[in-house]
Amino acid sequence: MGAGIRILAALLALAAATSCAAAQQLQQNYYANTCPDVEKIVRDAVTLKVQQTPVAVGATVRLFFHDCFVEGCDSSVIVVSTKNNTAEKDHVSNQSLAGDGFDTVIQAKAAVDAVPQCTNVVSCADILAMATRDVIALAGGPAYSVELGRLDGLSSTATSVDGNLPPPSFNLDQLTAIFAANNLSQADMIALSAAHTVGFAHCGTFSGRIQSNAVDPTMDPGYGSQLLAACPPGVDPNVALDLDPITPKGFDNQYFINLQKGMGLLTSDQVLYADDRSRPIVDNWAANSTDFQLAFVDAMTRLGRVGVKTDPALGNIRRDCAVLNS
Ligand code: HEM
Ligand SMILES: *[C@@H]1O[C@H](CO)[C@@H](O)[C@H](O)[C@H]1NC(C)=O
Ligand SMILES: *[C@@H]1O[C@H](CO)[C@@H](O)[C@H](O)[C@H]1NC(C)=O
Ligand SMILES: *[C@@H]1O[C@H](CO)[C@@H](O)[C@H](O)[C@H]1NC(C)=O
Ligand SMILES: *[C@@H]1O[C@H](CO)[C@@H](O)[C@H](O)[C@H]1NC(C)=O
Repeated sequence: MGAGIRILAALLALAAATSCAAAQQLQQNYYANTCPDVEKIVRDAVTLKVQQTPVAVGATVRLFFHDCFVEGCDSSVIVVSTKNNTAEKDHVSNQSLAGDGFDTVIQAKAAVDAVPQCTNVVSCADILAMATRDVIALAGGPAYSVELGRLDGLSSTATSVDGNLPPPSFNLDQLTAIFAANNLSQADMIALSAAHTVGFAHCGTFSGRIQSNAVDPTMDPGYGSQLLAACPPGVDPNVALDLDPITPKGFDNQYFINLQKGMGLLTSDQVLYADDRSRPIVDNWAANSTDFQLAFVDAMTRLGRVGVKTDPALGNIRRDCAVLNS
């Protein structure tokens, strides 16, 4: 009994010290007292959205990635441009972020705000993090607990995108460097790239690999001909193909199996197998889905910590996710 009390006291002291040190960090169940059902509310709204619009899966996951890599995970990517300000989402590169990712967050925010206790209590950045976790599970990917407590950013400018997102032409060193700038390892980068197990890419993002005068030797020739047939020169720029041609809707490790067969769609995908420094990890995760899922969940958790704002001087809870509070 005495020993039990001493252990309890030690645990309490440790908890106090930890909560002090972690005041600026994210935590699970962050809304336990302020909006206790938030995870269920978001999950229900996201489930409905995905039933109505399955492409919301890929759209939401990519939106979260872009949010986190530009000014941190602060939902600045969701803000719309005004007369005075060109927002992140309207950067000249035309990232073609699909509208259904934005709408997933808007729908979930409306569902959260409809509960009086929760109105304007949960940040859009946290709703995007939860929605991303939920679409991944709905597509058959790993379930995980999501850390919360992000505030929404106070600005969103197109120029802040410059240089912060990887183009599909990147090689392994370039990919590794841009993820390292976000506190993510090369293994994290490889795990997160497997998000390309769902969703679409427009012909223009890989057309350089399939043109007859410059066929990429790391691509399977049969796959290359299929791509060229679907994306001939002069094709409508709105045409987009599955990033994972084998199981396009399933969030699985097929991405890595495709890479082993020369069936990665983007240069930045196939290079993970073509470069012998990253190939061993691709081979491991192609063979062992459990290992992939563990690495993916870890990497997503670290992605969700990038540049987060918890200081009220740097962020707030946006009333409308698409508009900065006035
Ligand atoms: C490693 C560097 C990466 C590069 C170069 C890259 C590049 C791209 C490109 C070019 C597209 C096609 C966009 C279009 O044509 O509409 C795309 C789509 C996508 N990306 Fe990435 N990406 C990378 C990493 C990631 C990461 C880390 C995630 C999430 C964890 C992600 C999630 C997605 C998803 C889900 C789609 C499909 C979007 C949809 O269907 O609407 N990507 N990516
Ligand atoms: C945009 O700029 C105009 C003129 O400078 C100003 O009156 C207006 O309040 C600004 N609007 C916003 C939304 O900042
Ligand atoms: C951006 O890309 C989308 C989808 O391909 C296309 O519909 C739109 O016209 C493009 N916008 C610009 C400004 O190029
Ligand atoms: C996957 O790897 C784990 C160790 O991380 C191991 O326990 C398991 O047996 C492996 N599964 C397969 C199918 O190889
Ligand atoms: C990376 O981690 C360091 C140390 O924890 C932190 O100071 C920095 O803000 C992080 N960078 C990003 C982009 O999150």
